[in-house]
Amino acid sequence: MNLTLKVWRQKNGQDQGRLESYEAQNISPDMSFLEMLDVVNEGLTQQGVEPIAFDSDCREGICGMCSLVINGVPHGADRESGTATCQLHMRRFKDGETITIEPWRAQAFPVLKDLVCNRSSFDRIIAAGGFVSVDTGGTPDANTLPIGKNAADRAMDAAACIGCGACVAACKNASAMLFVSAKVSHLAQLPQGKVEAKDRVRKMVAQMDAEGFGNCSNQSECEAVCPKEISVDFIAQMNREYLKSPREV
Ligand code: SF4
Ligand code: FES
Repeated sequence: MNLTLKVWRQKNGQDQGRLESYEAQNISPDMSFLEMLDVVNEGLTQQGVEPIAFDSDCREGICGMCSLVINGVPHGADRESGTATCQLHMRRFKDGETITIEPWRAQAFPVLKDLVCNRSSFDRIIAAGGFVSVDTGGTPDANTLPIGKNAADRAMDAAACIGCGACVAACKNASAMLFVSAKVSHLAQLPQGKVEAKDRVRKMVAQMDAEGFGNCSNQSECEAVCPKEISVDFIAQMNREYLKSPREV
C-alpha cells in the first residue's frame, strides 16, 4: 500500500505546530498502524529528518499509551470494537488514501512533542483517591471475602479502563467523566473499596475539575471511542455516589 500521511509536528509545548505531509510507501496491509509509523520513521531517520514522536508501550491494548487521533477520531474510526490504536491494522485503510494523524487535544493534556501529550493530569486524579488504603489483609483473607457475581462483574467491567484518555479527546467538553467514573465505580462495587467511597468520589471529582476537564453533556462520544467499551452507565453511577457523599471531606 502507498499512503499520504498528514502528521501533526510540534517541536515542544511552546511551538504552534502544523500538519506536515509524508509519503508512506510499500506498507503491508498486515502491519499495525504503529508499525507503519515505525517504517515511516526509519525512512525519515535515513533522510536526516527528525522522526515523528508518538507514544506506545505494550502494543497489545493493555497500557493505554498509544494515543492518536486518526482522521479525526481517537484510536481511528474503522477498527474492531474494543481496540486501541496499536491494534488497528493497515488493511482497514485503502491504497492511495490520505490519513490525518493528530495528538489528543485537550487543555488538560498539553502537547509535549508531535503526537505525544502529557496525561499526568490523570495520574493526579488517581492520586487524589483512586486507591484502597484500608488494611484488606493477605491474599487468603481477600479470597474468603464473598463478593456477589453482579458486583464482581461490574467491578471488572469498570476496571478494564486503561487510562488512555480517548474519552477526553472525543468529547467536545474535554470531559474526563468516563475515565473518572470507571475508577470510582470499580472500587465502589467492592467491599474493600466501599469504606472510602464517599471521600474518594468527592476528592477525585474535585481534582478532575481542578485539572481543567469539562463536564458531561450526555452525548456519549466517549463511550463510542473507548477501546475498552466502558459504558456511560458508570457516569450515572459516579453521579449517584457523588450525591450520597458529604460535601466536606
Ligand atoms: S474510559 Fe475508555 S477511553 Fe477513557 S481512559 Fe478509560 S479506556 Fe480510555
Ligand atoms: S500501546 Fe499499549 S494500549 Fe496501545
